Amino acid sequence: MKRVFTYVAGALMLTACTTGTQKAPYELIAADAFDTTLNGRSVQLYTLVNKQGMAAQITNYGARLVSLWVPAADGSFKDVVWGYETIADYLDAGTDVYSGPVVGRYGNRINKGQFTLDGKSYQLTINDGENHLHGGSGGFWSKVWQGGVVTNADSSQSVVLTYESPDGEEGYPGNLTITVMYTLTNDNQLVLNYEATTDAPTVINPTSHSYFNLHGTTAQSTNSHILQINADSFTPTDAGLIPTGEIAPVEGTPLDFRQPTAIGERIEADFEPMKLAKGYDHNWVLNKANGQFGEAAVVYEPATGIVMTVSTDQPGMQFYSGNFMDGKDVGKRGDLHSFRTGVAFETQNFPDAPNHPEFPNPVLRPGETYTQTCVYAFSTK
Ligand code: GAL
Repeated sequence: MKRVFTYVAGALMLTACTTGTQKAPYELIAADAFDTTLNGRSVQLYTLVNKQGMAAQITNYGARLVSLWVPAADGSFKDVVWGYETIADYLDAGTDVYSGPVVGRYGNRINKGQFTLDGKSYQLTINDGENHLHGGSGGFWSKVWQGGVVTNADSSQSVVLTYESPDGEEGYPGNLTITVMYTLTNDNQLVLNYEATTDAPTVINPTSHSYFNLHGTTAQSTNSHILQINADSFTPTDAGLIPTGEIAPVEGTPLDFRQPTAIGERIEADFEPMKLAKGYDHNWVLNKANGQFGEAAVVYEPATGIVMTVSTDQPGMQFYSGNFMDGKDVGKRGDLHSFRTGVAFETQNFPDAPNHPEFPNPVLRPGETYTQTCVYAFSTK
C-alpha cells in the first residue's frame, strides 16, 4: 500500500473533526506510487483538488483518470472511478486494461481493422476477435503522455497531456499530435477537452474510458444506478459488435432510457442486441446535432445520492455495463473489478464510422483541428 498522505479539504475541516481529532474525508494516492520510467519516459501522477474538496488524480500513463473523489449526499466523499493504487498494478492489469484511460486513435471498434481513405486501404492491428478495438494493443491508453498541471485564470486547475502518435502506429496513417486537458472546476465538473492535428489524412475518435460506480465501491453493483440517456435511437451491431449501419429506434426496447430507469431492470431482457452484447454495450445516437454541446446522460445512485451528468459535443455515446468483467483484478482499496460493478459512458463518434459514409465523418486532414469536449458533472440529491 503506497498511500502515504492524506488530504483534508479546507472547507470541510470543521465538519470532519470528531472529538478533537481531524478525520480526513479521503485518502489520495501518493505521487511516488507512479514513480517509474516506461520506454524512456517518466510516469507521473497528478492531483487536482477544487474549492469544494472534490479531487481528481490523473496519470500521464494512458492519460488516465485514477481517482475521482466526489461528495455524496451525507457529506462524505466517494471515489467513483475504477483504478489501481500503483503503476505496477496498471501494468499488470489482466482482464481490463481500459480502466480510466483515453483510448484511441479510434476508440471503439473498426471492422476487421480495415478502412479505405482517399482510395488507399489501411490495415490496423487486430485486438478484439477479428476487429480493432480502442486504438489497438498499443493504443493511446498504453502510452506515456507528456504534460503537467496548469492553474487557470479562475483558479481552477488542469492537467494538460500531449501525445505524438507516429505515422503507421497501429496501422494509422499520419503523424498525429493529440492534447487532452482534464480540468476540475470549482463547481464539481471534470471537463475533458481534446485537440488533435495531423500531417496526413487519418481517422480519429478518442474517448475517455472510465468505469464509474457511484456507490464508491465495487462491493455494490451498478445495476442499482438510475440512468437516463437522451437518445431516441442506437446503432445495432453484428455479433462482433460492429454496427450494421442501421439506426434503430429505442422505443419499445430495453435500450429506451429516455425516462430514468434502473440499469438492472431490463439488463437480462430477451432482446437480440442485448444478448449479443451480454448486457448493455451499445452506441446511442444522441438527440442533438453533431458538434452541438448538450446533455447525453444522467446517472443517479439512490444509496449515495450522487448524480453524474454526462455532456458532450459528440454525436454518440457508448454505454457499457461491465459485462466482460470477471473480478480477477483487484483495484483500489481491495475493490474487485467484478461483473457489472462499473459502467462506462464513452462520448464518441459512432463505432466503425470509417466504414460507414452514412455515419458522422471521422476523417481529420492536415490543416484541420479535431476538437471534442466531454463533461462529467457531479451533484447530489
Ligand atoms: C467498451 C466496449 C466493450 C469492451 C470494453 C473493454 O468500450 O464497448 O465491448 O470491449 O470497452 O473491455
